[in-house]
Amino acid sequence: MIKVCRVDAIEEGAMFLINIDKKEIVIGKHNGRIVAFDAYCPHRYAYLHRGYFKDNNVVCPLHNFEYDLDTGKLVKIDEKYEDQNEEWKRSGDLRLYKTIIKDGYVYLDPFSTDSEFIQQC
Ligand code: FES
Repeated sequence: MIKVCRVDAIEEGAMFLINIDKKEIVIGKHNGRIVAFDAYCPHRYAYLHRGYFKDNNVVCPLHNFEYDLDTGKLVKIDEKYEDQNEEWKRSGDLRLYKTIIKDGYVYLDPFSTDSEFIQQC
């Protein structure tokens, strides 16, 4: 686990980039929960920290695809892209990272491969 920042340094709704061993990861806070995921959208690689949170999803700023923060799955495509072909709409899953809060700091496991979210105080 890598120490990232103080938990109170992340405002509700905020997202920012961190770089760990040349890997860019987004850290954010949504509904009081710390979340971490790959910096790039699995659709066409837009920076997700320029998007926003909605319901339980992160919304990509480029085509508004929504990825579930519990599973990383694509769960919604904006209606304005319904006419696009299936190949264009295809997207992989968003990779999520495990985070832990301990002694007021956020720790992240950059090698975690599941979508498990653990929060300890
Ligand atoms: S690049 Fe993210 S939805 Fe297309």
